[in-house]
Amino acid sequence: MHNLGILLSGRGSNFLAIADAIASGKIPDARIAVVISNLADAPGLAAARDRGLNAIAIESRGRKRQEHDAEIVATLQAHHVDLVCLAGYMRLLSPGFIQAFPQRILNIHPSLLPAFPGLDAQLQAFEHGVQVTGCTVHFVDEQLDHGPIILQRPVPVFPSDDPHTLADRILEQEHIAYAEAIARVLSGNYQIIGRRYLPKARTAPTKA
Ligand code: GAR
Repeated sequence: MHNLGILLSGRGSNFLAIADAIASGKIPDARIAVVISNLADAPGLAAARDRGLNAIAIESRGRKRQEHDAEIVATLQAHHVDLVCLAGYMRLLSPGFIQAFPQRILNIHPSLLPAFPGLDAQLQAFEHGVQVTGCTVHFVDEQLDHGPIILQRPVPVFPSDDPHTLADRILEQEHIAYAEAIARVLSGNYQIIGRRYLPKARTAPTKA
């Protein structure tokens, strides 16, 4: 059984999509061991509590990043987490955090990276005038929105869109993409070569 740790700062719709995907068997052999937020009033944390999950606020305000991250790492380890999923977690992770979970931290970002990293990616894409954007699930490394890409889903931008309708269309795809990416990573059936995520060819079972 895999233990997921979810980090969030806001509404938590990606967290809920992950929880639903576990419940429906789309992410096999996994449970959410703990949900952590840097903001005590994050709606996602309340939603986790409503679902009977361990939901913990570790406030970041006024604390040094390294010290705050060390407390989160210790909490994840205490819950035996083996895969960390950032789900709208709006803070950069310190190198110590990343080194504590090598190739075991995922993030979802609402654009087709490397286009539009950082804040308000949907608005950046809208204002740039792109006709296709989307979402990306990637491993977290020490640079912002940068690590190896596991999965992307494209989303069209229509002339009738405003930033909100576009963000909603991207979010629908995020919910599908995150569950699928987590299932892929937990299967272990891939390798990372350079920056490239490559599924391993399935070998036919050998006959006894
Ligand atoms: C999502 O759109 C996610 O991709 C984005 O924050 C939103 C969180 O929504 N994350 C980032 O921009 C990270 N750079 P949610 O709280 O409903 O999951």
